[in-house]
Amino acid sequence: MRDVRFLGKVQGTTAKCRGGENAVAFQMVPWVDWTNYWGAGDENSKSIWPSKNLRGVNGSLIDLEYERIELIKFNLFDNGGTFRQYVTGANGTDGAAIKVWPEMRLPASNPNFAAVGGTAADQRCNGELIRYRQLTGICNDTRNPLMGSTGTLFARNVEFESTFPDRALDELAKNRHAGRLSLLTPDPQVISRTLFTRAQHDSASCNDGYGKPGYAKDANCDYKKAPFFNVLAAFWIQFNTHDWFSHLEEGHNGPQYMAVGCATQRVNGADVPLTPADVARLGCRPTDQMDQSFVADSSKPGTFANGSRTYLARTPKTFKNNNTAWWDGSQLYGYDDRSRIRVKRDPADSARMLMIAQPNATTEGDKQGYLPILQATDPQNPDWAGQESVGFPDNWTIGLSFYHNVFAREHNQFVDAFRAQAKQHPDDDSGLRDPAHPQQPVRYRDVSSNELFELGRLVVAAEIAKIHTIEWTTQLLYDEPLFRGMNSNWSGLLQNDTTIKHLLGDLVNHLGTAKDARVANSWYATLASGPGIVGLGAQKAGWDISKDDDVNGGTNHFGSPFNFPEEFVSVYRLHALVPDLLEYRAYAQPDAIQAKIPVVETFRGRATGFMHDRGLASWAMTMGRQRLGALALQNHPRFMQNLKMDRLHSPTKQIDVAALDILRDRERGVPRFNEFRRQYGLRQLTSFDDFIDSHLKTDSPDYAEEKKLATTLRSVYGQHKCDASKPITRAQVGMQGEAITDCLGHPDGTMVDNVEDLDTVVGWLAETTRPHGYAISETQFVVFILNASRRLYSDRFFTSSFRPEIYSTMGFNWINNNGPTPMVEAIASNGHTGQPVSPLKRVLLRTVPELKPELDQVVNVFDPWARDRGSYYTLDWKPRKGAEKDEAFSRP
Ligand code: HEM
Repeated sequence: MRDVRFLGKVQGTTAKCRGGENAVAFQMVPWVDWTNYWGAGDENSKSIWPSKNLRGVNGSLIDLEYERIELIKFNLFDNGGTFRQYVTGANGTDGAAIKVWPEMRLPASNPNFAAVGGTAADQRCNGELIRYRQLTGICNDTRNPLMGSTGTLFARNVEFESTFPDRALDELAKNRHAGRLSLLTPDPQVISRTLFTRAQHDSASCNDGYGKPGYAKDANCDYKKAPFFNVLAAFWIQFNTHDWFSHLEEGHNGPQYMAVGCATQRVNGADVPLTPADVARLGCRPTDQMDQSFVADSSKPGTFANGSRTYLARTPKTFKNNNTAWWDGSQLYGYDDRSRIRVKRDPADSARMLMIAQPNATTEGDKQGYLPILQATDPQNPDWAGQESVGFPDNWTIGLSFYHNVFAREHNQFVDAFRAQAKQHPDDDSGLRDPAHPQQPVRYRDVSSNELFELGRLVVAAEIAKIHTIEWTTQLLYDEPLFRGMNSNWSGLLQNDTTIKHLLGDLVNHLGTAKDARVANSWYATLASGPGIVGLGAQKAGWDISKDDDVNGGTNHFGSPFNFPEEFVSVYRLHALVPDLLEYRAYAQPDAIQAKIPVVETFRGRATGFMHDRGLASWAMTMGRQRLGALALQNHPRFMQNLKMDRLHSPTKQIDVAALDILRDRERGVPRFNEFRRQYGLRQLTSFDDFIDSHLKTDSPDYAEEKKLATTLRSVYGQHKCDASKPITRAQVGMQGEAITDCLGHPDGTMVDNVEDLDTVVGWLAETTRPHGYAISETQFVVFILNASRRLYSDRFFTSSFRPEIYSTMGFNWINNNGPTPMVEAIASNGHTGQPVSPLKRVLLRTVPELKPELDQVVNVFDPWARDRGSYYTLDWKPRKGAEKDEAFSRP
């Protein structure tokens, strides 16, 4: 049942069995239990009995799997017209087991309409359309050609009635917020300046993120740091979001402008105008203006009845994802004809990306070159002038320049290796197959430059997905359960047992075709962790590229066409990760910080000079050794609160990006924090004090700090006198099965915190009780559990088309081995030995080989490079052997 979910909380006896009294002690807090199990933290979480640690870690994995199954079952809401069928089912098939939707047909206006069958009852992609990832993302699913393509609608993970809380779409939403919400109340800029600003002990040396003249080394911007995650990790995730989604078109929103706050504050429950003195105290800007979001459809949504309930068929406003939703490297390779023009190929070999070697290049890395600059004839937003030319150029800084250059070089590395093989063995079978002649081997010599370019894209996209899954995420969620969980997502829990793995893979595929949703989805998802998601359906005996069932049969969309939900975009608003100043190091002298370079100085076209003058290797060292910003309240970069964008109409042309994060979520109707948690199957909060971590001693400074933050939240969002007769949700019931009301369990008529009104971004930043080693909060995490899995399950190129016939034998092995040949890591880490050298480390060794002496010490590229990883998931900030002189260790 939807309203009696697991909530990440187990029975007392289970908690005791998996984590002893410590786990039992924290069962009453709203936060998930598994984090208190044996072995789920650092050395201190371990029992002296290895069997208990195994129980703890496995128990955590069971809880996580349970959550994933429930999320798949309860949290899929497609906005594109299929939701009714999802609820009611069709032709004897449960809605959640439906696999093909008329809404996912290509329209007659699409240039490939005829190629997929035009008006035929079943559109089907075939021939050249199935061999590679298509530019606009069509034909990933051969039977739903439009799914996930550029311009399709964002989905939702929450009931439509719970969206747009300011509109009070039903009685429950009305009771929940009692008319307290609007786009600009509570005021987004006031929230930003009160709850997001990084406090500075010396404002002058920070200078709002602009540092000191000449990038002087004694500049300083204080920020809360995550000790186990580096700045490379911050820009990695921005780089990836530019692959997955964008609400903007070519870096701008709609034509209408809107005010963005700095107008009111909440006093005794009422929003009253700010005085000039308040404005000065807060430092906000009442004249700021921003372009409004594009809206795809704002007409009144239809409704339908099923059983005793009436449902909305979609949200009152829908929005387009202007990127492909697939993990296809579209930030590098483009997502439509316009963006593709910016992707430059090497005229000497059009399978390669155009990279230009600097005239003074001396190192092996620099000889591989740098991306070309946008030309005046290229399609571009005037703000991008002088930037490097790439598919997705928006919000560009040195961090994005770094990854775009690295992966353009990696693309060329693969192409060059393929060319070398083709030269030596032109008549050998490349492993590829053409659907027109499925039995005929495609020889190396037969592969055209265009085909090789597309192969490069397939390989690079898969490498990025692998890095993200087993290298970035295992450092983002730095503990043993997640290390195992993420590796099993990629290669399965049964990594070494290939026979059982294949058998289980067959069974999982078979289950995926069932008409009963429980079998097709829940059993499927549980058992898929055995063989792993990647390659599901690809191990079928006699796999044949001319058989649609083989090519496409391994995906599972769980009854709801794949696209990212708005809620996913919301929890990726990770601007707090970015430091204001980069501690610049030259790669040959890694221990010395030579300058403090403001990130904002590298914004847009200015990144080019910084990249060319200082080079990839030194930027790698700079961002590899520096800790990123913790996702916490009062930790947003100063420069982002004051970002200048020339296209804006306001007097200062500045925007507070942190305030905009809140405003955009409100424009797109993301539910507020408490209902968001209830919708995702997490326990609600009953007061702002629930944010205070109960593991803390009440006389500790951290406790005092958290108490103060809870008070600040109360002052910004306010309180109200509650009414216990008003139910506020259908997503969950109380602990005794009672309806959850406006009083959240407090006595009727008492003053309660407006915890229901809390903006979701503010809520997850306020979560200090987190699983060990989590750079994100559990609320964000639960959104990732669902959508990160779906991003793999739904993509044919990661499941049944993950085959040498599609990737070539060389490409397939390149992905599996993290490069042309396997390499084993010499350093033991967190109790694991003999692991493959991690995939981004391998990419950097190829594309920036001058980093080798440093990388030889690094296990995970996203862990600060000079940090000692200790024996078991330590978060300590201590130098590893050989890096004792690094200046960053002389400060907290
Ligand atoms: C220096 C670096 C960055 C700059 C200058 C920047 C700037 C911006 C701006 C101006 C917007 C607002 C667009 C709008 O709604 O009009 C935005 C949106 C966003 N940013 Fe950033 N950002 C940076 C880094 C990051 C990072 C590290 C992340 C981490 C994932 C991130 C994630 C997002 C997301 C998810 C959105 C919403 C996109 C959408 O609505 O489709 N950004 N950013």
